[in-house]
Amino acid sequence: MNETASNANVTNQLAPVMLVTGSAKRIGAAIIHAAHNQGYRVIIHCNYSEHEANALADMLNRSRNNSAAVIIANLAIVNNDMDLRRFATQIFATFGQLDVLVHNASRFYPTPFGHINHAQWDELFLSNAKAPLLLSQALMPHLKAQHGCIISLLDIHADNKPFSSYTVYNMAKAAHRMMVQSLALEMAPYVRVNGVAPGVNILPEADSDQAIDPVQQQNIIDSIPMQRVGTPDDIAHSVLYLAQADYVTGEIISVDGGRSLTLAGGNR
Ligand SMILES: NC(=O)c1ccc[n+]([C@@H]2O[C@H](COP(=O)([O-])OP(=O)(O)OC[C@H]3O[C@@H](n4cnc5c(N)ncnc54)[C@H](OP(=O)(O)O)[C@@H]3O)[C@@H](O)[C@H]2O)c1
Repeated sequence: MNETASNANVTNQLAPVMLVTGSAKRIGAAIIHAAHNQGYRVIIHCNYSEHEANALADMLNRSRNNSAAVIIANLAIVNNDMDLRRFATQIFATFGQLDVLVHNASRFYPTPFGHINHAQWDELFLSNAKAPLLLSQALMPHLKAQHGCIISLLDIHADNKPFSSYTVYNMAKAAHRMMVQSLALEMAPYVRVNGVAPGVNILPEADSDQAIDPVQQQNIIDSIPMQRVGTPDDIAHSVLYLAQADYVTGEIISVDGGRSLTLAGGNR
């Protein structure tokens, strides 16, 4: 190895490590890009989007050798203690440390009252509340060792202003929001725990079960004081701020173009 490459490798080995759940695409991928640009080594976690995750890791590794890795798992593994322990071990073993854990993975779809079923409850609570809590617990020793931090992707609808027809999602994100505040107390002074609450920063994919109809989309845009949908980079910027804000814990930053100021609950 020549001297420059060897120096780069030493620098890389000292770089902090960030894991972002559900980060093959969209907001998660934007967080990965932003963290990698700032010198982090990154762990891209995915479930179905293996192809996108590998392409992202390859691209990042081409720009900095051994700086990005992919871990594939359905977060349902948190329902089994042994699987969860294995998952935590795999995460730690990837780079030998973990500094920042970002809970980004989520399911999002309507559950009109009168038609709510157990499967929806389990799925929406799994990704939006249960997995973040149990994964934080499983990774606590590693985060504590690094005086690291946890950052949760929440929602402006998780607090006081429910999104109409999304009761189960609203409830799960509200539980996740309370997790942020509870763990900020429990994990201080070793680990900081904060959240970012997006408004509308990227619309759900049009051909997915998460799609929002065009009328609802226009209502949403009309309600945003900044008069536009935000961007995944707006969220990534706040996540990176929280990762580096050594005296901030238990805080939730809304990144919503002012939408929570005009929001009355319901569709608008
Ligand atoms: N989009 C917005 O404007 C907006 C608004 C408010 C809040 N948020 C929050 O911001 C975060 C990112 O939003 P987004 O729209 O980019 O998210 P998204 O595309 O809806 O979901 C991110 C990823 O979560 C993963 N995921 C879901 N269930 C999983 C499971 N059981 N196991 C493993 N992975 C699972 C999926 O990974 P695979 O594709 O690999 O299966 C998916 O790609 C979410 O927490 C969301 O609730 C976003």
